[in-house]
Amino acid sequence: MRLILLGPPGAGKGTQAQRLVAKHGIVQLSTGDMLRAAAAAGTPVGLRAKEIMERGELVPDEVVVAIIADRIGEADARRGFVLDGFPRTVPQAEALDRLLKERGLDLDAVIELKVDEAILMKRIETRIAEMTARGEKVRADDNAEALKKRLDAYRAQTAPLVDYYARTGQLKTVDGMAPIDAVTAEIDRLLRPARPGRSRAKTAGRRASRARAAKTKTARARAARRGPKASRGKAAARATGGKGRKRAAKAAPGSRKKAGRPVAKRGRAGRAGTRKTRAKRLTRAR
Ligand code: AP5
Repeated sequence: MRLILLGPPGAGKGTQAQRLVAKHGIVQLSTGDMLRAAAAAGTPVGLRAKEIMERGELVPDEVVVAIIADRIGEADARRGFVLDGFPRTVPQAEALDRLLKERGLDLDAVIELKVDEAILMKRIETRIAEMTARGEKVRADDNAEALKKRLDAYRAQTAPLVDYYARTGQLKTVDGMAPIDAVTAEIDRLLRPARPGRSRAKTAGRRASRARAAKTKTARARAARRGPKASRGKAAARATGGKGRKRAAKAAPGSRKKAGRPVAKRGRAGRAGTRKTRAKRLTRAR
């Protein structure tokens, strides 16, 4: 499974990515985490990215695209991955399309976590409290000033990706304001494959054919109860492709239109029969 999680800072991308990893056995590819690790390791790329991140701006596209190009080629990413925080610009999304195409891979879904901006500072404060409680170093960009810049960057450069992926038909939007477990449940629901052969149209089709079969069975049983003439009528109706008793009766001379009413009393055949009987009687009388 290959997924993208899209959403502003603090929307819950990292939180949901970890749950997807646990559920599907895929890897989380967070460009933010990778850049922070590179900065902590003091690599040239990391040191360059560090200052940009602290200001709340986006690291240049070519830097993050190169990181992702290497990472998705690694063995642990073969079973699938969830991209958390990448792509963040339209050029990054286009680069990802090319990378996947070169490797013959497809995306399963792009999940947008939709949240009200007003809640985001509170979420960041929550994370600061959580990290402090775990004894971890608080992120340098988790403060009001940097968050404002991160939000500006999101609106200007990342939000256009919602339309980008809506156009490809891969976008699935989830209410990121719901409690964490409810967001997870909604993502699970959206990723669940449609059960084969259980589409509404197929179910309705099956129901209709069962109803037709039951109707035919009842009609045959009724015809059998009425006797051979009625059966002939039905058989003739079937032969002519006709439906209903009237056509069946017309198609099979000798069958009855209504139970207990002989055919001889109506139509040409009936009148002819009466004329013959009269002629015989007259001959005998002579
Ligand atoms: P990055 O590390 O990706 O940060 P971000 O996108 O700003 O997102 P956050 O990690 O802050 O939030 P999140 O959505 O993961 O939320 P979380 O689950 O932690 O990027 C950092 C920087 O790196 C960027 O600013 C940029 O400089 C650079 N960078 C990274 N990728 C780049 C790229 N592709 N291109 C260019 N530059 C790039 O949740 C937050 C808190 O809320 C937690 O406490 C959590 O418990 C809580 N929470 C989560 N969900 C809920 C919920 N449903 N209800 C209540 N609380 C919730």
